[in-house]
Amino acid sequence: MQNQTEGYKSQGKERLRLEKRYKSLLREDLRLGELVSYVGNKRIPLLRLYRYKEAFAFEFVRHFIRRFGLTTRDYIFDPFAGMGTTLFASMLQGIPSIGIDKLPIAAFVAKAIHSLLYIENGDLRNTFETLKQKVDAIDPAPVAMDVRIMKLAFDEDILLRLRKWKAAINELPQPLKDIFLLLFFSILEATSYTSKDGQFLRLKREKHLLYPDDAILNKVFQAEQDLEHIRWLFPSWNGFRNCLPKVILGDTMNLGEISFDRPPTAIITSPPYANRYDYTRSYCLELCFHFVRNFEELKAIRFGILRSHIESKVSQQEKPSHPAVQEVIETLKSKHLNNPKIPHMIIGYFIDMEKAIYEWSHTLASGARVAMVVDNVRFEGELIPVDLVLSEVAEEAGFEVKEILIARYKGNSSQQMKRYGRVPVRESIVVWKKQ
Ligand SMILES: C[S@@+](CC[C@H](N)C(=O)[O-])C[C@H]1O[C@@H](n2cnc3c(N)ncnc32)[C@H](O)[C@@H]1O
Repeated sequence: MQNQTEGYKSQGKERLRLEKRYKSLLREDLRLGELVSYVGNKRIPLLRLYRYKEAFAFEFVRHFIRRFGLTTRDYIFDPFAGMGTTLFASMLQGIPSIGIDKLPIAAFVAKAIHSLLYIENGDLRNTFETLKQKVDAIDPAPVAMDVRIMKLAFDEDILLRLRKWKAAINELPQPLKDIFLLLFFSILEATSYTSKDGQFLRLKREKHLLYPDDAILNKVFQAEQDLEHIRWLFPSWNGFRNCLPKVILGDTMNLGEISFDRPPTAIITSPPYANRYDYTRSYCLELCFHFVRNFEELKAIRFGILRSHIESKVSQQEKPSHPAVQEVIETLKSKHLNNPKIPHMIIGYFIDMEKAIYEWSHTLASGARVAMVVDNVRFEGELIPVDLVLSEVAEEAGFEVKEILIARYKGNSSQQMKRYGRVPVRESIVVWKKQ
């Protein structure tokens, strides 16, 4: 098996230059490999309630809080907050934090998880009983039925029952409304024929479905257990209310309107990967139940998030500024791509990430540390060293590259392996310091 650096020897000179330039900063730290995925969160109270499978592990954040020596005097920022793993872990260490996400369901979950801390013992169970009394008689809530998957995902009676539950939850006062919406979103996979597998929301007709009332009750029990667990693990948990994270639905490429309490002293984050994955498809049911009224509004979100997916739009004038990205785009022109839009996605991705990195540079305190998980990608045999390209962009934006930690190697698909040989692709954590 070749390592990734050897893989570049057969490729363009810009990528080889990057590999040589950063060779001394590239280190394997394969213990981090299991922390870059959400799997570890299945055991973490409250974080386990909603499956946001693009999350990284709670322990990943704790590792970098320790590694950077962060204390309660710091201020942590997650510019791609997802379900709020960084914010939650920071709060439990007593460190104030702020997070932004452009996907409404992600920002919602990150906020709602923290609302649970305002709940008293027994509130959830009592509210469940009250809701159950109302559900039969209430008119169903409207949902975005013009989105195709909504017609395929559910049995008719289950969809009607879910819409009634949603209508009853809509009438709750805060914070119970957000908490029950969170529990409601967390049962949509188990009550539908969908499965958030791999890159898509798949339809699995053979699935055994849960009935909404039972599924919500299970979640109520889980949430109650988690709250007890957290209170037991952290007897001073009431103190967390003083450093509740701020969560904002916003765009990390445009931080001008975000009110930070002060310049953040650290970023611990993971952006979308340039791997065609479309968050608005995987989280389509949640979006259609609550955040959009129709397909047009869903598309507006799709085209508003970072351009990491295949439907990303790129104008003629947009050109990638980094020479290694230009090299990849040039080489791909002579190849037969299974999807001709891949070069657009790559161009859009690097333009957007560059914008984001410059925004962070303007926002962070001097000396601030950054830890960001990134995944290198490969299309038709062309490797893109996302970790090194973004590190070079960061240097131009005013960061020092401290190290690039290789967390794991991913194999390529069996099809690619047959054609181009087995060249593992790095998943790395880039570590930078604001000058
Ligand atoms: C890999 S996930 C982050 C997961 C997070 N670390 C966690 O533990 O949940 C990347 C996130 O970036 C968000 N995102 C995409 N475009 C964005 C943008 N322009 N501004 C802010 N967030 C964005 C996606 O919605 C997604 O939640």
